[in-house]
Amino acid sequence: MSYYQDLVKQSQELLNQFQAERKTLNTEQLNIKYLGKKGLFNELAAQIKNLKKNEDKKEFGQILNQLKKDLEKALADSQKQKQEIYQRLDLSLPGIKQKIGHLHPVSQAIEEISQIFERIGFVRGDYPEVDWDHYVFAALNMPANHPARDEWETFFVDQAADPEMGKVVLTTHTSNGQVREMERVKGQLPIRMINISRCYRRQSNNTHTQMFHQFEGLVIDKDINIQHLKGTIDYFAKEFFGPKTKSRIRPFHFKFTEPSFEVDFSCQICGGTGFIKNENNKKVNCRFCKSGWHEVGGAGMVHPNVLKAGGIDSKKYRGFAFGWGVERSYTLKQGLNLDDIRLFYSAERDFLEQF
Ligand code: FA5
Repeated sequence: MSYYQDLVKQSQELLNQFQAERKTLNTEQLNIKYLGKKGLFNELAAQIKNLKKNEDKKEFGQILNQLKKDLEKALADSQKQKQEIYQRLDLSLPGIKQKIGHLHPVSQAIEEISQIFERIGFVRGDYPEVDWDHYVFAALNMPANHPARDEWETFFVDQAADPEMGKVVLTTHTSNGQVREMERVKGQLPIRMINISRCYRRQSNNTHTQMFHQFEGLVIDKDINIQHLKGTIDYFAKEFFGPKTKSRIRPFHFKFTEPSFEVDFSCQICGGTGFIKNENNKKVNCRFCKSGWHEVGGAGMVHPNVLKAGGIDSKKYRGFAFGWGVERSYTLKQGLNLDDIRLFYSAERDFLEQF
Protein backbone atom coordinates (compact mmCIF):
# COMPACT_ATOMS: atom_id res chain seq x y z
CA MET A 1 0.00 0.00 0.00
CA SER A 2 1.38 3.43 -0.95
CA TYR A 3 1.73 6.23 1.56
CA TYR A 4 -1.13 8.06 -0.14
CA GLN A 5 -3.40 4.98 0.04
CA ASP A 6 -2.54 4.53 3.70
CA LEU A 7 -3.60 8.13 4.49
CA VAL A 8 -6.89 7.66 2.61
CA LYS A 9 -7.56 4.51 4.63
CA GLN A 10 -6.75 6.33 7.89
CA SER A 11 -9.20 9.12 7.00
CA GLN A 12 -12.00 6.55 6.41
CA GLU A 13 -11.22 4.83 9.71
CA LEU A 14 -11.25 8.12 11.61
CA LEU A 15 -14.94 8.70 10.82
CA ASN A 16 -15.83 5.11 11.81
CA GLN A 17 -13.92 5.48 15.05
CA PHE A 18 -15.77 8.74 15.77
CA GLN A 19 -19.17 7.05 15.22
CA ALA A 20 -18.23 4.20 17.53
CA GLU A 21 -17.07 6.55 20.29
CA ARG A 22 -20.32 8.56 20.25
CA LYS A 23 -21.71 5.90 22.60
CA THR A 24 -19.07 6.35 25.27
CA LEU A 25 -17.84 9.96 25.02
CA ASN A 26 -19.87 13.12 25.45
CA THR A 27 -19.85 15.85 22.74
CA GLU A 28 -17.29 17.94 24.61
CA GLN A 29 -14.87 15.01 24.77
CA LEU A 30 -15.50 14.10 21.11
CA ASN A 31 -14.84 17.67 20.01
CA ILE A 32 -11.50 17.82 21.82
CA LYS A 33 -10.39 14.34 20.76
CA TYR A 34 -11.26 14.66 17.05
CA LEU A 35 -11.52 18.35 16.10
CA GLY A 36 -9.39 20.00 18.80
CA LYS A 37 -6.12 21.80 18.05
CA LYS A 38 -4.11 18.69 18.90
CA GLY A 39 -6.93 16.39 17.84
CA LEU A 40 -6.85 13.34 15.55
CA PHE A 41 -8.06 15.28 12.46
CA ASN A 42 -5.22 17.82 12.65
CA GLU A 43 -2.76 15.00 13.29
CA LEU A 44 -3.88 13.31 10.06
CA ALA A 45 -4.05 16.59 8.07
CA ALA A 46 -0.45 17.43 9.05
CA GLN A 47 0.75 14.40 7.13
CA ILE A 48 -0.25 15.99 3.80
CA LYS A 49 3.15 17.60 3.64
CA ASN A 50 4.79 14.17 3.42
CA LEU A 51 3.04 13.36 0.13
CA LYS A 52 5.41 13.76 -2.77
CA LYS A 53 3.07 14.15 -5.76
CA ASN A 54 1.11 17.41 -6.07
CA GLU A 55 -1.73 15.36 -7.52
CA ASP A 56 -1.90 13.24 -4.35
CA LYS A 57 -1.73 16.37 -2.18
CA LYS A 58 -4.64 17.90 -4.06
CA GLU A 59 -6.80 14.80 -3.82
CA PHE A 60 -5.98 14.16 -0.18
CA GLY A 61 -6.77 17.85 0.56
CA GLN A 62 -10.24 17.28 -0.86
CA ILE A 63 -10.66 14.10 1.21
CA LEU A 64 -9.62 16.03 4.33
CA ASN A 65 -12.13 18.83 3.58
CA GLN A 66 -14.93 16.28 3.26
CA LEU A 67 -13.78 14.43 6.41
CA LYS A 68 -13.84 17.65 8.45
CA LYS A 69 -17.38 18.39 7.26
CA ASP A 70 -18.46 14.82 8.10
CA LEU A 71 -16.93 15.01 11.57
CA GLU A 72 -18.55 18.40 12.28
CA LYS A 73 -21.92 17.09 11.13
CA ALA A 74 -21.63 13.95 13.27
CA LEU A 75 -20.73 16.12 16.25
CA ALA A 76 -23.73 18.41 15.64
CA ASP A 77 -25.98 15.33 15.37
CA SER A 78 -24.72 14.08 18.73
CA GLN A 79 -25.44 17.41 20.33
CA LYS A 80 -28.95 17.52 18.87
CA GLN A 81 -29.71 13.98 20.00
CA LYS A 82 -28.64 14.83 23.55
CA GLN A 83 -30.85 17.91 23.61
CA GLU A 84 -33.84 15.90 22.42
CA ILE A 85 -33.31 13.35 25.21
CA TYR A 86 -33.22 16.16 27.78
CA GLN A 87 -36.38 17.69 26.34
CA ARG A 88 -38.17 14.36 26.70
CA LEU A 89 -37.01 14.02 30.34
CA ASP A 90 -39.39 15.44 32.91
CA LEU A 91 -36.99 16.44 35.64
CA SER A 92 -39.86 17.39 37.94
CA LEU A 93 -40.95 13.73 38.22
CA PRO A 94 -40.23 12.21 41.66
CA GLY A 95 -37.21 9.89 41.67
CA ILE A 96 -37.24 6.15 42.28
CA LYS A 97 -36.97 5.57 46.02
CA GLN A 98 -34.17 3.20 46.95
CA LYS A 99 -35.21 0.36 49.21
CA ILE A 100 -33.53 0.52 52.59
CA GLY A 101 -32.90 -2.68 54.53
CA HIS A 102 -33.97 -3.05 58.14
CA LEU A 103 -33.55 -5.36 61.10
CA HIS A 104 -35.48 -8.62 61.09
CA PRO A 105 -38.73 -8.19 63.09
CA VAL A 106 -37.49 -10.62 65.75
CA SER A 107 -34.27 -8.59 66.14
CA GLN A 108 -36.38 -5.43 66.47
CA ALA A 109 -38.42 -7.09 69.22
CA ILE A 110 -35.29 -8.30 71.04
CA GLU A 111 -33.86 -4.77 70.98
CA GLU A 112 -37.07 -3.30 72.41
CA ILE A 113 -37.47 -5.99 75.08
CA SER A 114 -33.84 -5.47 76.24
CA GLN A 115 -34.40 -1.74 76.59
CA ILE A 116 -37.67 -2.15 78.50
CA PHE A 117 -36.01 -4.33 81.15
CA GLU A 118 -32.78 -2.34 81.24
CA ARG A 119 -34.85 0.73 82.17
CA ILE A 120 -35.82 -0.96 85.47
CA GLY A 121 -32.34 -2.20 86.31
CA PHE A 122 -32.19 -5.63 84.67
CA VAL A 123 -28.81 -6.53 83.16
CA ARG A 124 -28.71 -8.61 80.00
CA GLY A 125 -26.68 -11.80 80.37
CA ASP A 126 -25.21 -14.11 77.78
CA TYR A 127 -25.30 -17.87 78.31
CA PRO A 128 -24.56 -20.89 76.09
CA GLU A 129 -27.11 -21.99 73.51
CA VAL A 130 -25.56 -25.44 73.51
CA ASP A 131 -25.37 -26.43 77.13
CA TRP A 132 -25.06 -29.26 79.62
CA ASP A 133 -28.17 -31.16 80.64
CA HIS A 134 -27.27 -30.05 84.17
CA TYR A 135 -28.15 -26.37 83.49
CA VAL A 136 -31.08 -27.05 81.18
CA PHE A 137 -32.77 -29.70 83.36
CA ALA A 138 -31.05 -31.27 86.37
CA ALA A 139 -30.19 -28.06 88.27
CA LEU A 140 -33.75 -26.87 87.55
CA ASN A 141 -35.18 -29.59 89.76
CA MET A 142 -35.65 -32.04 86.89
CA PRO A 143 -33.34 -34.98 87.68
CA ALA A 144 -32.47 -37.58 85.04
CA ASN A 145 -35.45 -39.57 83.78
CA HIS A 146 -37.94 -37.18 85.36
CA PRO A 147 -41.13 -37.25 83.21
CA ALA A 148 -41.38 -33.40 83.24
CA ARG A 149 -38.45 -33.36 80.79
CA ASP A 150 -40.69 -34.85 78.09
CA GLU A 151 -42.46 -31.49 77.71
CA TRP A 152 -39.24 -30.07 76.31
CA GLU A 153 -38.77 -31.96 73.09
CA THR A 154 -35.02 -31.88 73.17
CA PHE A 155 -32.29 -32.06 70.52
CA PHE A 156 -29.30 -33.95 71.96
CA VAL A 157 -25.76 -33.45 70.71
CA ASP A 158 -24.14 -36.71 69.69
CA GLN A 159 -21.34 -36.60 72.25
CA ALA A 160 -20.42 -38.71 75.26
CA ALA A 161 -22.15 -37.56 78.47
CA ASP A 162 -20.13 -36.00 81.27
CA PRO A 163 -20.49 -37.97 84.53
CA GLU A 164 -21.53 -34.82 86.44
CA MET A 165 -23.00 -32.49 83.82
CA GLY A 166 -24.80 -35.13 81.75
CA LYS A 167 -25.43 -34.91 78.01
CA VAL A 168 -24.94 -31.88 75.78
CA VAL A 169 -28.22 -30.43 74.47
CA LEU A 170 -29.46 -27.53 72.37
CA THR A 171 -31.08 -25.29 74.98
CA THR A 172 -34.83 -25.91 75.03
CA HIS A 173 -35.49 -22.75 77.06
CA THR A 174 -33.62 -19.72 78.37
CA SER A 175 -33.98 -21.05 81.93
CA ASN A 176 -30.49 -22.59 81.60
CA GLY A 177 -29.27 -19.04 82.39
CA GLN A 178 -30.76 -19.18 85.91
CA VAL A 179 -28.23 -21.39 87.71
CA ARG A 180 -25.43 -20.17 85.45
CA GLU A 181 -26.15 -16.59 86.63
CA MET A 182 -26.31 -17.66 90.29
CA GLU A 183 -22.90 -19.31 89.87
CA ARG A 184 -21.51 -16.28 88.04
CA VAL A 185 -22.33 -13.78 90.81
CA LYS A 186 -20.75 -16.06 93.47
CA GLY A 187 -23.04 -14.88 96.28
CA GLN A 188 -22.94 -11.18 95.21
CA LEU A 189 -26.70 -10.60 95.33
CA PRO A 190 -29.14 -9.19 94.26
CA ILE A 191 -29.57 -10.62 90.75
CA ARG A 192 -31.65 -8.80 88.15
CA MET A 193 -30.93 -10.66 84.97
CA ILE A 194 -32.54 -10.77 81.55
CA ASN A 195 -31.55 -13.50 79.11
CA ILE A 196 -32.75 -13.28 75.50
CA SER A 197 -31.59 -16.14 73.40
CA ARG A 198 -32.32 -18.78 70.79
CA CYS A 199 -34.01 -21.99 71.93
CA TYR A 200 -34.51 -25.28 70.12
CA ARG A 201 -37.20 -27.94 70.30
CA ARG A 202 -38.27 -30.82 68.10
CA GLN A 203 -41.46 -29.00 67.15
CA SER A 204 -42.52 -27.69 63.78
CA ASN A 205 -46.06 -26.64 63.00
CA ASN A 206 -47.88 -23.39 62.33
CA THR A 207 -47.48 -22.20 65.94
CA HIS A 208 -44.06 -23.71 66.70
CA THR A 209 -40.63 -23.48 65.11
CA GLN A 210 -37.61 -25.71 65.77
CA MET A 211 -35.56 -22.59 66.50
CA PHE A 212 -37.27 -19.73 68.32
CA HIS A 213 -36.43 -17.10 70.94
CA GLN A 214 -37.33 -16.66 74.57
CA PHE A 215 -36.64 -13.90 77.05
CA GLU A 216 -36.11 -14.88 80.63
CA GLY A 217 -36.08 -12.69 83.69
CA LEU A 218 -34.58 -13.68 87.01
CA VAL A 219 -34.65 -11.57 90.17
CA ILE A 220 -33.16 -12.79 93.46
CA ASP A 221 -33.01 -10.68 96.58
CA LYS A 222 -34.23 -10.58 100.17
CA ASP A 223 -38.02 -10.29 100.66
CA ILE A 224 -38.97 -10.90 97.03
CA ASN A 225 -42.59 -11.99 96.63
CA ILE A 226 -45.28 -12.57 93.99
CA GLN A 227 -46.23 -8.87 94.03
CA HIS A 228 -42.82 -8.06 92.56
CA LEU A 229 -43.38 -10.64 89.83
CA LYS A 230 -46.88 -9.36 89.02
CA GLY A 231 -45.65 -5.75 89.05
CA THR A 232 -42.87 -6.64 86.58
CA ILE A 233 -45.35 -8.47 84.31
CA ASP A 234 -47.71 -5.45 84.36
CA TYR A 235 -44.84 -3.06 83.66
CA PHE A 236 -43.77 -5.10 80.63
CA ALA A 237 -47.38 -5.39 79.39
CA LYS A 238 -47.84 -1.63 79.32
CA GLU A 239 -44.38 -0.80 77.94
CA PHE A 240 -44.33 -3.39 75.18
CA PHE A 241 -47.95 -3.84 74.15
CA GLY A 242 -49.39 -0.43 75.10
CA PRO A 243 -50.76 1.40 78.17
CA LYS A 244 -54.20 -0.24 78.04
CA THR A 245 -52.86 -3.80 78.13
CA LYS A 246 -53.80 -5.95 81.10
CA SER A 247 -52.01 -9.05 82.35
CA ARG A 248 -53.08 -12.05 84.40
CA ILE A 249 -51.41 -15.07 85.96
CA ARG A 250 -53.02 -18.52 86.15
CA PRO A 251 -51.81 -21.43 88.32
CA PHE A 252 -49.60 -23.85 86.42
CA HIS A 253 -46.84 -26.33 87.06
CA PHE A 254 -43.13 -26.00 86.36
CA LYS A 255 -40.59 -28.05 88.30
CA PHE A 256 -38.28 -25.05 88.79
CA THR A 257 -40.79 -22.59 90.24
CA GLU A 258 -43.18 -22.90 93.17
CA PRO A 259 -45.82 -21.59 92.87
CA SER A 260 -45.87 -21.52 89.06
CA PHE A 261 -48.07 -19.60 86.67
CA GLU A 262 -48.93 -19.18 83.05
CA VAL A 263 -48.93 -15.54 82.01
CA ASP A 264 -51.57 -14.03 79.73
CA PHE A 265 -51.81 -10.58 78.15
CA SER A 266 -55.04 -8.99 76.98
CA CYS A 267 -55.75 -9.12 73.24
CA GLN A 268 -54.65 -6.11 71.17
CA ILE A 269 -57.48 -6.57 68.69
CA CYS A 270 -60.55 -6.77 70.97
CA GLY A 271 -59.01 -4.94 73.95
CA GLY A 272 -59.41 -8.03 76.17
CA THR A 273 -63.19 -8.30 75.77
CA GLY A 274 -63.19 -11.33 73.47
CA PHE A 275 -65.60 -9.59 71.08
CA ILE A 276 -65.34 -7.29 68.08
CA LYS A 277 -67.96 -5.63 65.90
CA ASN A 278 -68.28 -6.99 62.36
CA GLU A 279 -68.99 -4.98 59.18
CA ASN A 280 -72.71 -4.94 60.09
CA ASN A 281 -71.90 -3.51 63.54
CA LYS A 282 -72.86 -6.85 65.13
CA LYS A 283 -70.94 -8.17 68.15
CA VAL A 284 -69.01 -11.33 67.18
CA ASN A 285 -66.25 -13.42 68.81
CA CYS A 286 -62.73 -12.04 68.29
CA ARG A 287 -61.01 -14.39 65.85
CA PHE A 288 -57.55 -13.43 67.12
CA CYS A 289 -57.79 -14.60 70.76
CA LYS A 290 -59.43 -17.01 73.15
CA SER A 291 -61.95 -14.91 75.11
CA GLY A 292 -59.77 -11.81 75.27
CA TRP A 293 -56.43 -13.28 76.38
CA HIS A 294 -53.19 -14.62 74.90
CA GLU A 295 -50.76 -16.90 76.71
CA VAL A 296 -47.09 -15.98 76.17
CA GLY A 297 -45.20 -18.19 78.62
CA GLY A 298 -44.56 -19.15 82.21
CA ALA A 299 -43.42 -17.58 85.47
CA GLY A 300 -43.16 -18.31 89.17
CA MET A 301 -41.19 -18.04 92.39
CA VAL A 302 -37.79 -19.73 92.06
CA HIS A 303 -37.91 -23.21 93.67
CA PRO A 304 -35.66 -23.59 96.75
CA ASN A 305 -33.92 -26.56 95.08
CA VAL A 306 -32.89 -24.30 92.19
CA LEU A 307 -31.51 -21.67 94.58
CA LYS A 308 -29.60 -24.46 96.31
CA ALA A 309 -28.19 -25.71 92.99
CA GLY A 310 -26.93 -22.16 92.37
CA GLY A 311 -25.32 -21.95 95.83
CA ILE A 312 -27.89 -19.51 97.29
CA ASP A 313 -29.36 -19.84 100.77
CA SER A 314 -33.12 -20.15 100.24
CA LYS A 315 -33.76 -19.18 103.86
CA LYS A 316 -32.25 -15.74 103.26
CA TYR A 317 -33.12 -15.11 99.62
CA ARG A 318 -36.08 -15.58 97.34
CA GLY A 319 -36.58 -14.94 93.69
CA PHE A 320 -38.96 -14.87 90.80
CA ALA A 321 -38.45 -15.90 87.19
CA PHE A 322 -40.35 -15.75 83.95
CA GLY A 323 -39.75 -17.01 80.41
CA TRP A 324 -41.76 -15.90 77.39
CA GLY A 325 -41.63 -16.39 73.63
CA VAL A 326 -40.23 -13.48 71.58
CA GLU A 327 -42.00 -14.44 68.32
CA ARG A 328 -45.26 -14.95 70.22
CA SER A 329 -44.98 -11.58 71.99
CA TYR A 330 -44.11 -9.81 68.74
CA THR A 331 -47.11 -11.17 66.82
CA LEU A 332 -49.38 -10.16 69.71
CA LYS A 333 -47.96 -6.66 69.78
CA GLN A 334 -48.52 -6.24 66.06
CA GLY A 335 -52.03 -7.74 66.27
CA LEU A 336 -50.76 -10.21 63.68
CA ASN A 337 -52.94 -13.23 63.06
CA LEU A 338 -50.23 -15.26 61.35
CA ASP A 339 -51.35 -18.48 59.72
CA ASP A 340 -47.88 -19.84 60.18
CA ILE A 341 -45.23 -18.57 62.64
CA ARG A 342 -42.55 -20.29 60.50
CA LEU A 343 -42.89 -17.37 58.05
CA PHE A 344 -40.49 -15.45 60.31
CA TYR A 345 -37.70 -17.80 59.26
CA SER A 346 -38.76 -18.45 55.67
CA ALA A 347 -36.70 -15.61 54.11
CA GLU A 348 -39.90 -14.51 52.32
CA ARG A 349 -39.02 -10.91 51.53
CA ASP A 350 -42.63 -9.90 50.78
CA PHE A 351 -43.53 -10.91 54.33
CA LEU A 352 -40.47 -9.47 56.10
CA GLU A 353 -40.51 -6.13 54.26
CA GLN A 354 -43.83 -5.27 55.91
CA PHE A 355 -42.22 -4.68 59.30
C1 FA5 B 1 -40.76 -22.54 79.42
O1 FA5 B 1 -39.97 -22.73 78.48
C2 FA5 B 1 -40.26 -22.16 80.79
N1 FA5 B 1 -38.83 -22.22 80.83
C3 FA5 B 1 -40.77 -20.74 81.10
C4 FA5 B 1 -40.49 -20.33 82.53
C5 FA5 B 1 -39.36 -19.61 82.84
C6 FA5 B 1 -41.38 -20.70 83.54
C7 FA5 B 1 -39.11 -19.22 84.15
C8 FA5 B 1 -41.14 -20.33 84.86
C9 FA5 B 1 -40.03 -19.58 85.14
P1 FA5 B 1 -42.84 -22.99 77.93
O2 FA5 B 1 -42.44 -24.31 77.44
O3 FA5 B 1 -44.29 -22.79 78.20
O4 FA5 B 1 -42.09 -22.56 79.24
O5 FA5 B 1 -42.37 -21.91 76.86
C10 FA5 B 1 -42.58 -20.54 77.06
C11 FA5 B 1 -43.01 -19.84 75.77
O6 FA5 B 1 -42.02 -20.03 74.76
C12 FA5 B 1 -44.28 -20.38 75.14
O7 FA5 B 1 -45.43 -19.88 75.74
C13 FA5 B 1 -44.15 -19.87 73.72
O8 FA5 B 1 -44.48 -18.50 73.65
C14 FA5 B 1 -42.65 -20.00 73.50
N2 FA5 B 1 -42.35 -21.27 72.78
C15 FA5 B 1 -42.15 -22.50 73.31
N3 FA5 B 1 -41.90 -23.40 72.35
C16 FA5 B 1 -41.92 -22.73 71.18
C17 FA5 B 1 -41.70 -23.11 69.80
N4 FA5 B 1 -41.38 -24.34 69.45
N5 FA5 B 1 -41.82 -22.14 68.84
C18 FA5 B 1 -42.11 -20.87 69.18
N6 FA5 B 1 -42.30 -20.44 70.45
C19 FA5 B 1 -42.22 -21.37 71.44
